[in-house]
Amino acid sequence: MSTHSTTAAPGSPAAPSTLITGIGSLVTNDTAHGTGPLGLLTDAAVVIDAGTVVWVGPAGAAQAADERFDAGGRALLPGFVDSHAHLVFAGDRTAEFNARMSGQAYSAGGIRTTVAATRAATDAELDANLARFVREALHQGTTTVECKSGYGLTVEDEARALRIAAGHTPETTYLGAHVVAPEFADDPAGYVDLVTGEMLDACAPYARWVDVFCENGAFDGDQARAVLTAGVARGLTPRVHANQLSYGPGVQLAVELGAASADHCTHLTDEDVAALAGSATVATLLPGAEFSTRAAYPDARRLLAAGATVALSTDCNPGSSFTSSMAFCIAVAVREMGMTPDEAVHAATAGGARALRRPDVGLIAPGARADLLLLDAPSHVHLAYRPGVPLTAAVWRAGVREL
Ligand code: NIG
Ligand code: FE
Repeated sequence: MSTHSTTAAPGSPAAPSTLITGIGSLVTNDTAHGTGPLGLLTDAAVVIDAGTVVWVGPAGAAQAADERFDAGGRALLPGFVDSHAHLVFAGDRTAEFNARMSGQAYSAGGIRTTVAATRAATDAELDANLARFVREALHQGTTTVECKSGYGLTVEDEARALRIAAGHTPETTYLGAHVVAPEFADDPAGYVDLVTGEMLDACAPYARWVDVFCENGAFDGDQARAVLTAGVARGLTPRVHANQLSYGPGVQLAVELGAASADHCTHLTDEDVAALAGSATVATLLPGAEFSTRAAYPDARRLLAAGATVALSTDCNPGSSFTSSMAFCIAVAVREMGMTPDEAVHAATAGGARALRRPDVGLIAPGARADLLLLDAPSHVHLAYRPGVPLTAAVWRAGVREL
């Protein structure tokens, strides 16, 4: 078993370093530190300083720190990285969910209900809603969250969604191409022109990523390509809502354009699986969407067997997946998608970090951001073993104890 130490990053001299010891089971996601793909250590300790992990190793060998926290034999893991969420919106779609649970099918068109409510909301209302969801997720162990626009669909409403999102996370995604705006129902080409032109100009300053819903009822392959390449030309990196409701060109397009991630991946051909496996594009699976739309789950085993990198995320949105719980997604992925608890926890932490190209999160290793989730459980396996049970005992985000 190896131990590592680094010099603490410079920070406020007032911020004390903390030794977290008595960790019964530690998920590092660093194979240099522990066993298996999760880099598991038992009876471990971690030192954090100035917002960063500075030491990881056996409890008996831990260095001193200003403060000490006894984990009491419980499990510590990296904070969850939720790499796919739609959190700038107003209203909800209870009636639509109710109808679906009575047998009605899900379609992309429901997005327009939320667009109307979102346009009618004030900036302050949208900001408060987003803050509430980020807090709700944090309480469940999520320390990094991506946030998409896509419920404004005008130049001003998309730009304000991203401006508001940027106040809460650096992982902001321009999704003007969520569906064709109602004003352009008879002119989808005109809407793509807007999304790739004036709307992109207004949104790019607030966005890191560009996304498109490539699906029947939303945007076809040619339109999706136009949206993504325009975003790339403005310095954004692509990610794609791909192959969610049907087979289609989304996954191949994502891989071809070097997208960070292809999200949903529910309907995949063998060629799609091979393309993902042979690329750096992460397959981000969103089981909350299949759960809440009563659809068949994506085939995680097929992707893992082929060697694709898999991430798990919530897809939190008012239509297809109104959950902010990564633990719930882990439990469903284990029970319904054949993932092992280790694979699911890896996908919800390291996988999400890969999908956001963030080497500083999703792991507990010297130099990583000190984003930590302490479970009220002796092992990370309890996230799947005890579904629906609140297991968050403590959360640190960038070294700050949040709860
Ligand atoms: O990822 N697929 C497209 N967008 C969302 C659903 C949005 C909605 O129904 O409001 C999704 O599932
Ligand atoms: Fe989504």
